[in-house]
Amino acid sequence: MLPRRRRARTGSPGGPARPGPACPCPPRFPGVAIHLAEPRMGRSRRAFLTRLALSKGFRVLDAYSSEVTHVVMEQTSAEEARCWQERRAAAASPPECTSPELLDISWFTESMAAGRPVPVERRHRLEAAVPAKGPPGPVRVPPYACQRPTPLTHPNTSLSEALEVLAEAAGFEGSEGRFLSFRRAAAVLKALPSQVTAPSQLQGLPHFGEHSCRVVQELLEHGVCEEVERVRRSERYQTMKLFTGIFGVGVKTADRWYRDGLRTLDSLHEQLQRLTQQQRAGLQHYHELSIPVQRPEAEALQQEVEAAAVDILPGATVTLVGGFQRGKLHGHDVDLLLSHPREGLEAGLLPHVMRRLERQGLVLYQQHHRGHPEDARRRTRHSHTMDAFERSFCIFCLPQPPGAAVGGAHRRAVRVDLVVVPVSQLPFALLGWTGSKHFERELRLFSRKERGLCLNSHGLFDPEQKMLLRVASEEDLFRHLGLEYLPPEQRNA
Ligand code: UTP
Ligand code: MN
Repeated sequence: MLPRRRRARTGSPGGPARPGPACPCPPRFPGVAIHLAEPRMGRSRRAFLTRLALSKGFRVLDAYSSEVTHVVMEQTSAEEARCWQERRAAAASPPECTSPELLDISWFTESMAAGRPVPVERRHRLEAAVPAKGPPGPVRVPPYACQRPTPLTHPNTSLSEALEVLAEAAGFEGSEGRFLSFRRAAAVLKALPSQVTAPSQLQGLPHFGEHSCRVVQELLEHGVCEEVERVRRSERYQTMKLFTGIFGVGVKTADRWYRDGLRTLDSLHEQLQRLTQQQRAGLQHYHELSIPVQRPEAEALQQEVEAAAVDILPGATVTLVGGFQRGKLHGHDVDLLLSHPREGLEAGLLPHVMRRLERQGLVLYQQHHRGHPEDARRRTRHSHTMDAFERSFCIFCLPQPPGAAVGGAHRRAVRVDLVVVPVSQLPFALLGWTGSKHFERELRLFSRKERGLCLNSHGLFDPEQKMLLRVASEEDLFRHLGLEYLPPEQRNA
């Protein structure tokens, strides 16, 4: 055992544990160059450990360089270690092609005791603490969904779905706190690498309060949870789900209709004067819109829109985002981002594209929203959830491939969002529109609480420096936030 920091400071100068001054002799282990990284290691402890290693014939480099083979850290999480390394790698010139081992102090301690560098084992590596890669057993799950990979499919679907029903029901009642508690617990389950089979496995997981634990316990013991079933059967939940499933209807509107005694789509058809244009279109096409959009349909639509956009403005780009970008095979709508590599050229494109698509007979409904560039800057600072891009909320009429026709029809209605994004804001918009919604919410919260930065689909704002941060790609954005990059298919929180 190495003396702790306190003993290092108070140890007697000539004591046996006290290493001597730097050894002038050549290092005994030429393949090993240690760098003691400082984040959590006080200066005096670092000096002490340096003297100790030198006295045993190790080479210790005070400054980090490409010669370093072993970086040793103390009381540092894997995530902090990775951030540290990324900062170093970014600063390295020329760029490094190999990275050193990132090691916990245990490797150093054992090597000093052995008087030689011990072979690096998995348990010495700081990366070993990353969840989802480790063997089954107690996993360390970081608290924010943006700090952990969440694949599309996972082994705890029935548990997470039950918690999501309770979250949704709480959302219908306007209980934001309860909504988030259940939603966060569900998101933790989605990120676990193995199936939960006993309530004890929930111990130590973040966001598992008494209520969520109770629900999971009941599901594990009885296969069903009485509370969840009661909610699912309730008239309130079923009606709110029906109404909020209509294009253009949010929780507030659905709740008002419910309180006014409305319960069915027929009752809404009788009260069309209460509905906005958008809601009427949603009601009219309700059944077709409630059939999931399949990935090939979404891709076909992306190609139609891209062909129109490129024809009008050569070089224009159309990117399929939302759930499909995360690897989903079906979704409730098609989300498309329109842009152009030359900033400014995208302005005015959308109305032309819409007119073209209309002439092709593709558009059943559209509602154009002008963008608010001024608003966009203000919103960045205040981190609003709704963005200020120019966009069209549409219902398209999609040709059906032979054989796949719904109810024998050759065309069907599909919900489409077209969003115009200036290229300088594209990384933020891509990130914001790829979702999932919960992932985005957590990423913004993480940015604000842990980094003091305001993130939304327009930019990343530093309120202290009062400046927008420049970002070239989604990867760059994760790096700025000190987060491990998660590809879209790992953002299914
Ligand atoms: P969606 O609601 O389309 O969700 O929003 P989804 O993940 O694609 O799921 P399905 O398959 O359609 O049901 C996609 C992303 O776009 C963002 C949401 O936050 C989500 O991350 N979004 C949506 C906005 O940023 N602004 C909006 O006005 C709408
Ligand atoms: Mn979508």
